[in-house]
Amino acid sequence: MCPKKAYFDEKAAEWDTLIKDEVVIRIKNMVEELALPQGSKVLDLGTGTGILIPMLIEAVGSSGAVVAVDFAPQMLAEARKKYQWPNLEFLEGAAEEIPLEDQVFDEVVCNSAFPHFDDLRQAAQEMARVLRPGGRVTVMHPHSREYINDLHVSLGGAVKTCLLPEEEVMLAIFAEAGFEALTLEDVPGRYCLSGRKA
Ligand SMILES: C[S@@+](CC[C@H](N)C(=O)[O-])C[C@H]1O[C@@H](n2cnc3c(N)ncnc32)[C@H](O)[C@@H]1O
Repeated sequence: MCPKKAYFDEKAAEWDTLIKDEVVIRIKNMVEELALPQGSKVLDLGTGTGILIPMLIEAVGSSGAVVAVDFAPQMLAEARKKYQWPNLEFLEGAAEEIPLEDQVFDEVVCNSAFPHFDDLRQAAQEMARVLRPGGRVTVMHPHSREYINDLHVSLGGAVKTCLLPEEEVMLAIFAEAGFEALTLEDVPGRYCLSGRKA
């Protein structure tokens, strides 16, 4: 098993205890601000133990659907234990090779996972592939880029090189993947890249 997958699998059982209440509130606010339309089909990429899942399910309603993808089986197992809805599906798979058809989602939301992907360009291209034209990508963190990168360097080990690129590089990665109307907000307590598939 690759070291990063093993790292997340080892952390899976305690993962939820590592997320502070104030951070959960920031994530909730960020999801609410997305104003996901009822009935949307949403991909939660790098779902982990599924912190976004109840927020996404509530937003899209029973006419929408959420697919939660992660490459670490133990993280997915923790999410599965907590959440079951008829319109929720879990899938084990890599962001660089999302095990889903083309153009099936209205939204891809990726919280606190993008810098962990081994091939950022390939992951952005896969996000574009699974979105319908006009669909939206959101790459978010409840922290600034500086905070995230400092944290990963200080944690070391499997995550020490998991860094969010500079703003111009992020925007170029997503523009090259076929996204337009790109915006990127990076302030203390909040990082959010958004774009629409052309
Ligand atoms: C820091 S956790 C965040 C999990 C969750 N989104 C959250 O906000 O709590 C990053 C997640 O990304 C997953 N991940 C890392 N690299 C991945 C890849 N290449 N493909 C799919 N999932 C990946 C990890 O297994 C882990 O569950």
